[in-house]
Amino acid sequence: MNEIKLAEGVYWVGAIDWNIRFCGSYSTPRGTTYNAYLIIDEKVALVDVVKHGFSDEMLTRIKDIIDPKKIDYVISNHAEMDHSGSLPDVMKEATKARVIATEKGKEGLLKHHKISCDFITVKTGDELNLGKKNLLFISAPMLHWPDSMFTYIKEDRILLPNDAFGQHIATPQRFEDEVGDMVMNAAARYYATIVMPYAPLVLKKIQEIKDMGIMIEMIAPAHGTIWRKSPERIIQAYADWAEGKAKDKVLIIYDTMWESTDKMAKEILNGISSEGVEVRLFHLRKSDWSDIIEEVLDAKAILVGSPTLNNGMFPTVAGFLSFLKGLRPKGKIGAAFGSYGWGGGAVRAINEELKKAGFDVIEPGLEIKYVPNDNEIRECFELGKKVARKVKGH
Ligand code: FEO
Repeated sequence: MNEIKLAEGVYWVGAIDWNIRFCGSYSTPRGTTYNAYLIIDEKVALVDVVKHGFSDEMLTRIKDIIDPKKIDYVISNHAEMDHSGSLPDVMKEATKARVIATEKGKEGLLKHHKISCDFITVKTGDELNLGKKNLLFISAPMLHWPDSMFTYIKEDRILLPNDAFGQHIATPQRFEDEVGDMVMNAAARYYATIVMPYAPLVLKKIQEIKDMGIMIEMIAPAHGTIWRKSPERIIQAYADWAEGKAKDKVLIIYDTMWESTDKMAKEILNGISSEGVEVRLFHLRKSDWSDIIEEVLDAKAILVGSPTLNNGMFPTVAGFLSFLKGLRPKGKIGAAFGSYGWGGGAVRAINEELKKAGFDVIEPGLEIKYVPNDNEIRECFELGKKVARKVKGH
């Protein structure tokens, strides 16, 4: 295999997962990579390992460069199984290696794996001398697990932040400037589905790194491509996303039983469109929810529609709002609409959920009985206009 070098003595030795289509709670239509980095100096360090099942791919890459027995340290930035699953296999070959992690990382690794090895626990500011190169550790709790940390190679100015700044892309290319604009779409989807709940911590961590005087010339995350040409681009994007920056765009997200809510959704869309505002429509049983979440990131408003079922929301709508609430999008407008037969309830329930999720809710929303008549169709159009105008003035 060709060696992939980030700097003198720093190599990518990860694995490419072309076929993964679902990871945790979100979809990964482009696959992903599990990135591990080998640092060769007087001492040898391996930063992160890969998911179980990919050990051979990673160990083959390592063996092309060095005998794994020469590894002195295995640094675990994060214990989640996509970054630690192959640790038992690695430790069988890296027989003298000590494992470096945060205190919570150590706890996580020992709970996940049957391994017996020496640990060194580290926290922000701790350093490790490898010879000519020095590593600095920065705790990054809840970005996105309590154990998470970043490793920084001081002499090369390379930040290894594990999950942060990643993208789920399987590609033969290793650097962001080799894959074109799709890298930012993939990074946005990744942020929206994984990092969004921790937005305030992202801003704080970015400021903390600046305050530490850390110069970043390259960001090598644990998934996807390495930011070598424009690390500042992804840092700025994270800052913008964390602040809730969005464009004049509205999403209509709904489900329907006998097509009344569907009719409402499409007329609301016409109303939004008549104001010149970008609008996208998502039927919850015909859409990938991760696609919707990705779109939520840069939308200023969402309208959520549901028929009333047993005095409440349709199950798909309830499920989606539960997913959305956990991701805590910031600074967005929300509105509800829907139809009912003999007693309403869905719109009220959606309003409550949107409020709990932190949306600025336009109440009371719009709920109509059975099938919308001409007047009610006009009301749908007007609701669309109202939301669009609020978006434009927001
Ligand atoms: Fe890529 Fe938190 O694992």
